[in-house]
Amino acid sequence: MRGSAAFLVLLLCLHRTWAQAESGEGAESDIIQPDEENKNTEVQSEKQQVKETHDQSSSQTNITPDIWAELKELRDMVIKQGIKIENMEQENTVIQARLTAIENENAVLEARLTASINEVEQLTSETTVLEARLNSSENMVMELKRENTALEARVSASENEVKELQRENSERPKVAFSVGLTDAGPVGPFNTEITLKFVKIFTNIGQAYNPTTGIFTAPVRGAYFFRFTIWENRASVILGSILYHNNKRILWSSDQNDTISHVTLSNGLVLQLEKGDVIYMALQASYNVSDNTDNRTVFDGFLLFPL
Ligand SMILES: *[C@@H]1O[C@H](CO)[C@@H](O)[C@H](O)[C@H]1NC(C)=O
Ligand SMILES: *[C@@H]1O[C@H](CO)[C@@H](O)[C@H](O)[C@H]1NC(C)=O
Ligand SMILES: *[C@@H]1O[C@H](CO)[C@@H](O)[C@H](O)[C@H]1NC(C)=O
Ligand SMILES: *[C@@H]1O[C@H](CO)[C@@H](O)[C@H](O)[C@H]1NC(C)=O
Repeated sequence: MRGSAAFLVLLLCLHRTWAQAESGEGAESDIIQPDEENKNTEVQSEKQQVKETHDQSSSQTNITPDIWAELKELRDMVIKQGIKIENMEQENTVIQARLTAIENENAVLEARLTASINEVEQLTSETTVLEARLNSSENMVMELKRENTALEARVSASENEVKELQRENSERPKVAFSVGLTDAGPVGPFNTEITLKFVKIFTNIGQAYNPTTGIFTAPVRGAYFFRFTIWENRASVILGSILYHNNKRILWSSDQNDTISHVTLSNGLVLQLEKGDVIYMALQASYNVSDNTDNRTVFDGFLLFPL
């Protein structure tokens, strides 16, 4: 390509030379286009050939000195082009080196990109697994919330029950008493039956037993337990007492003195009472009972549970 361009230049030169020789003119100098940049140093050697040819032509034809000047100009241009081409080659080398570097960088980046894509795929599959676990956890949480709500309702109901029971318990009357008959020794005989008034108070929780009358009054409907022990130490005396529920005789107990004149008698029972019912012990007419500071004759009772 470059060779053929140089050859074209040579032909032009020759043609011009011949034309000038024929016409006798030779002052024109502008024979090379300014944009012939793709020439290289090969042009220089060909330029030499051109010169030689020119010399031959000059020897053969009658060439004016203007042509030589034109050729010199042409040669200078060719030299300039050669230098340009050299510079371009150098630039090209630099660009090649940069291109190689960029290619290397590109390979590195491609490797990193591949690694990143793999990582992303890995993360995506992990994310799917985690999402599934999250979903099942969420379901579990919802299930637990439902259970929790149910349990809360039951706890609430239980708390209400406990409160109700506590209220019932706090409202349940507390009833218990233990009383002793007397410190004064023998009681009786009397002509008529009398209510025994136990005047020594050991306990009287709820104040249901009245020591002034000797009568216990049930504060609530319920099951009550009562018990008594009576004692006598007089010789040849029959011991006895009656337990009354309202006006109804529930039991009668009696015994006689033994060989050393000490008799103890005990009995007890559970009674179902209505609120306001009364319980008391009585001494039958002509019978006897005794007590002293030893607290040998006692009467006890307590509420088992309300009904
Ligand atoms: C998790 O639940 C959502 C919403 O219910 C659903 O769109 C998604 O597909 C589920 N993911 C998995 C992995 O089960
Ligand atoms: C009561 O005790 C006295 C004195 O020990 C005795 O003499 C008497 O026989 C007793 N009475 C009876 C009924 O056992
Ligand atoms: C009660 O005691 C009196 C006087 O000690 C006696 O006379 C009477 O017989 C006794 N009563 C009974 C039922 O033993
Ligand atoms: C009898 O009861 C009274 C309390 O009422 C007490 O002080 C006394 O010690 C008791 N007697 C005996 C012998 O325990």
